[in-house]
Amino acid sequence: MNNIVRFVLDNKIVEIDFFKKQELKPTTTVLNYLRSYPEHKGVKEGCAEGDCGACTIVVAELDKNEKLVYKTLDSCLVFLPMIHGKQLITVENLAIEGTKEKILHPVQQLMVETNGSQCGYCTPGIIMSLFGLYKNHNNPSREIIEDALTGNLCRCTGYQSIIEAAQKACTVKGKDHFSEKEKDVVKMLKNIAENKESLVLSTENQKYFKPFSLEEALIIRLENPDAIIINGSTDVALRQTKKNEHFAKILDISGVEELKTFYEDKDCYVFGSGISIEQVKNFSKETLPALYKMLSVFGSLQIRNIATIGGNAGSASPIGDTLPLLFAYGAKLKLTSGAGDRVIEIEDFIKGYRQTDLGNDELIKEIIIPKTDNSTKINSFKISKRKDLDISTVSGAFKLKLEQENVSEIILAYGGMAATTKRAVNTEKFLTGKKWSKKNVEEAMNIVAEEFTPLSDARSEAEFRTIAAKNLLMKFYIEN
Ligand SMILES: Cc1cc2nc3c(=O)[nH]c(=O)nc-3n(C[C@H](O)[C@H](O)[C@H](O)COP(=O)(O)OP(=O)(O)OC[C@H]3O[C@@H](n4cnc5c(N)ncnc54)[C@H](O)[C@@H]3O)c2cc1C
Ligand code: FES
Ligand code: FES
Repeated sequence: MNNIVRFVLDNKIVEIDFFKKQELKPTTTVLNYLRSYPEHKGVKEGCAEGDCGACTIVVAELDKNEKLVYKTLDSCLVFLPMIHGKQLITVENLAIEGTKEKILHPVQQLMVETNGSQCGYCTPGIIMSLFGLYKNHNNPSREIIEDALTGNLCRCTGYQSIIEAAQKACTVKGKDHFSEKEKDVVKMLKNIAENKESLVLSTENQKYFKPFSLEEALIIRLENPDAIIINGSTDVALRQTKKNEHFAKILDISGVEELKTFYEDKDCYVFGSGISIEQVKNFSKETLPALYKMLSVFGSLQIRNIATIGGNAGSASPIGDTLPLLFAYGAKLKLTSGAGDRVIEIEDFIKGYRQTDLGNDELIKEIIIPKTDNSTKINSFKISKRKDLDISTVSGAFKLKLEQENVSEIILAYGGMAATTKRAVNTEKFLTGKKWSKKNVEEAMNIVAEEFTPLSDARSEAEFRTIAAKNLLMKFYIEN
């Protein structure tokens, strides 16, 4: 049986046997694991909920061409088995021992030279974000640099010098001592990957399954319908880190390659449910601009690198940012089980507050987004307290098809206005067949206000949400 988590750290394979290391459990986060060792205390816990970036690490994994891909992640939200078969890089790994003294990595050296280093809490995480940027971009634009730093909150306003450090450091195509050791790391990762058996990690009060094929995942799902599914774990991990919830059984599908596919068909785009939000964002830049726009203000790079589109649909949150768009595009989900596949409209899949139509033996396999013709306009809007790294107060995704100047089809899908993503169906009915004019849209805004009874909560009063929902319709009109 495969019951040992293996990953590369400090240039060697580390093995974790949860029977022997009783102080660790499968859902111990990578942050807590690292903090328990004196050599890796650079990683810090600021918030334990993916907001501050003090816990940022870089994980390198093999792509299809057996090349290493470097990603920044928030280690506070990553369970240990999720890094099985990957290289874990911490701030302690960046500098190398020289003959007389340590030689800093270029991103560290430039942080020193530009006076970018400030408090010891945020700086290690910032360095790791810069390292991720360094490995992925050559001469990045200001926009790319800012995006890489969005997930690192610094309250002492030191960003200018950090941005300068990034600009000066990222000019050498990512070449460094990691590039020199890549061959050895690839060899070690391939060695770990040779064992294709599912990981089954049992401790006294926790069972953690990590299959590497869809077939095995579905067998485990059938036999353990009570296991909590995790894909990127950015929703689920918070239940442990913030609410101290104990997970007795977990089915981790992050290692299932069949769920990480993307392809374009004649009339649709098909995303595997395990595709990360960052990958969806990159794919959609040219093809689905409204989705790209929404994903550009989704979490931070650390979150988008691991959070999945399947997890966004599967969590059925009323403020899940892809959902209004999936409604507007008329997307479908392909669900799969040992009995076969079934396709369901996204609107039928969402059943209630965080409730879905997923059967006990099923997993979401694919998200299918139909292509639209040039006469169809789709736009999306997100209102949140902060532009970056904030969840929606109200969101909207709207689809409009005109014949001559009249509305032949309209979808107005809102997030944050009800217990689920919800369409303003009465408003849609009112507008259908009418002229797409300012006067009619102004009248429609009043119907939007009547259709919803939103909540007041920490993010906003109900009244604000209603006004925002009305105004988003007008914004859609003005921008189209
Ligand atoms: C700091 C932070 C910022 C965030 N910002 C945003 C934001 O801007 N916008 C936004 O919408 N969300 C945001 N989120 C929420 C979260 O990141 C997203 O909902 C994300 O898409 C969840 O994906 P995941 O793979 O991490 O889900 P997971 O936590 O792995 O899973 C969530 C749920 O989906 C189900 N599920 C996942 N995959 C499948 C599958 N293949 N089959 C069946 N069920 C499945 C699981 O049962 C689980 O209950 C944020 C979260 C954090 C921590
Ligand atoms: S501790 Fe704040 S993002 Fe992880
Ligand atoms: S570097 Fe820590 S608050 Fe600014």
